[in-house]
Amino acid sequence: MAPDDRARPARSFPAVAVVATVGTTSSASVDPIPEIAKICREEKMWLHIDGAYGGAFTMMPEYKWVSRGWEMADSIVVNPHKTLFVPLDFSVLYVRDLERLRRVFTLVPEVLRGDTIEGEKNYMDYGIQLGRRFRALKAWVIWRSLGREGIVERLREQIRLANLLASWIKKDNRFELAAPVSMGVVCFRFVRADKDEIDRSNSEIVERINSSGRAYLTQTKLRGRTVMRIGLGNVLTMEEHLRKAWEIIQETASKL
Ligand SMILES: Cc1ncc(COP(=O)(O)O)c(C=O)c1O
Repeated sequence: MAPDDRARPARSFPAVAVVATVGTTSSASVDPIPEIAKICREEKMWLHIDGAYGGAFTMMPEYKWVSRGWEMADSIVVNPHKTLFVPLDFSVLYVRDLERLRRVFTLVPEVLRGDTIEGEKNYMDYGIQLGRRFRALKAWVIWRSLGREGIVERLREQIRLANLLASWIKKDNRFELAAPVSMGVVCFRFVRADKDEIDRSNSEIVERINSSGRAYLTQTKLRGRTVMRIGLGNVLTMEEHLRKAWEIIQETASKL
């Protein structure tokens, strides 16, 4: 969202909520939350912050900037299954006014009347699901075994690796970085092809590598252009794996 007043679209219906993202899906970019939050206050709109991927980086002191403006949010989501090493699925939702959430979702069937004792927090009253698994257990195990410092250390390593890959990309003039690297996602593009063929060449590299089974890349579109994408996040990914993946990309591009 562009927080500039002039960029506000004319609305034929009232907007009720804005979702600002911290770590967008394609390139891990970060929306300007304080500016967006100010507009939400003025226009009385609910502000939800989607920190599914990027929210956890705020655990690193040097990434505190990521949480600027969060104090003005109505709700925030963070996915420890994306960035905090917890296996799928484990999402955390923070809500300023919990009672409002309860009013929206609570629906107590007759068979459960006796279970909803006042004072006990029953999660069926705060979402669509009734039965649910004990997801908190796996998160507890990961966090107890790594500890806060261990998590921060691993996040820092991810960012070091992302920047290292970016430096290799910059050194090979057949490629260019397609977006600034701020977290563990690197978007880049093979540019040494006929102008009309560049998008297709990038998809071709991704498909050839993925079908070889030697590495796994994704592709996305940034400003209408096809780019390759590497997302770091697995606790077992080491520099040697990344180097190997980069060599495979270079080698595949050479054979196009
Ligand atoms: C920014 C962002 N928000 C939300 C989601 C949805 O995540 P999930 O369905 O795993 O909770 C994704 C998934 O890629 C994402 O990148």
